[in-house]
Amino acid sequence: MTLDPAFQVFLGDCRVRVERALDSWLPPDSTQPTKLHSAMRYATLGDGKRVRPVLVYAAGQAFGAQPECLDGAACAVELIHAYSLVHDDLPAMDDDDLRRGRATCHKAFDEATAILTGDALQTLAFRVLCNDDSLCVDHHDRLRMLAELSHASGSRGMAGGQALDMEATGKEIDLAQLEALHIHKTGALIVASVRLGAYAAGASHDDRLAGLEHFARCIGLAFQVHDDVLDIEGETSVLGKTRGKDAATDKATYPALIGLDGARDMAARLIDEALDNIAGFDKTADPLRQLARYIIGRKR
Ligand code: IPE
Ligand code: IPE
Ligand code: MG
Ligand code: MG
Ligand code: MG
Repeated sequence: MTLDPAFQVFLGDCRVRVERALDSWLPPDSTQPTKLHSAMRYATLGDGKRVRPVLVYAAGQAFGAQPECLDGAACAVELIHAYSLVHDDLPAMDDDDLRRGRATCHKAFDEATAILTGDALQTLAFRVLCNDDSLCVDHHDRLRMLAELSHASGSRGMAGGQALDMEATGKEIDLAQLEALHIHKTGALIVASVRLGAYAAGASHDDRLAGLEHFARCIGLAFQVHDDVLDIEGETSVLGKTRGKDAATDKATYPALIGLDGARDMAARLIDEALDNIAGFDKTADPLRQLARYIIGRKR
């Protein structure tokens, strides 16, 4: 898809900002234990799209925050995401060899190191939210952010969704169960990204925040539906992960349940619904609008 030039600049700026923050929070390779720190940097600083950090910046901007006040939150959500990918790829879970165009963490290092890498990236995310000086928020908002990220990552969020995913593998589940699975494993962290951006801007519970949250729930589900579609119609070299793994391992996916066209239509409908829910926002929300379109137009 061709991206709007202004959005392309926005994306580039956000990626530079969050990668700089990640680089500064991750201990150097030379710090003991060196293998663990090398693996943490390997898993985090590779070629990720940084969609969740970009959402933090875009939501923060829509509520009037400066990017300088959003780096800590952007960094924290990407650390949780990177951890989730390392564990998702383990032999006990999806057993994948390729991630972000190179060997998965447990292949490049070893399984024990990959497990510890996930553990340490997760706790680093919370340390960043606790200690980051650039966050322009009071203690109350910082606590709100910590509560949100911990809930979204845990057993009633991403980790819970991953548990549902493992249980559903090789079984037949219905559409409502699949929706719950996707909303938790992927949607929860996407909703948290948007909330963290808004909270970092001091947003409180009002109609605009409720609209933005609905937007986030829609794009979060659409993101995973499109990920399922890409597993079928993407290219391994572009995806940076092995195409066709879902069907080969009998994963519960939208194309498996409602067909490829059904999945594509559903993702498109979700993006329309997302956009309707932020129709009342002004031009500062344009990156959110562009990002929503990008989520179902991307090739990787
Ligand atoms: C992959 O996420 C895992 C899912 C939740 C579908 P991304 O597609 O955002 O992966 P990276 O961060 O760009 O590698
Ligand atoms: C992973 O979903 C969701 C996570 C919480 C990591 P997938 O298993 O479909 O992600 P990919 O396709 O391996 O990136
Ligand atoms: Mg998985
Ligand atoms: Mg996987
Ligand atoms: Mg997938």
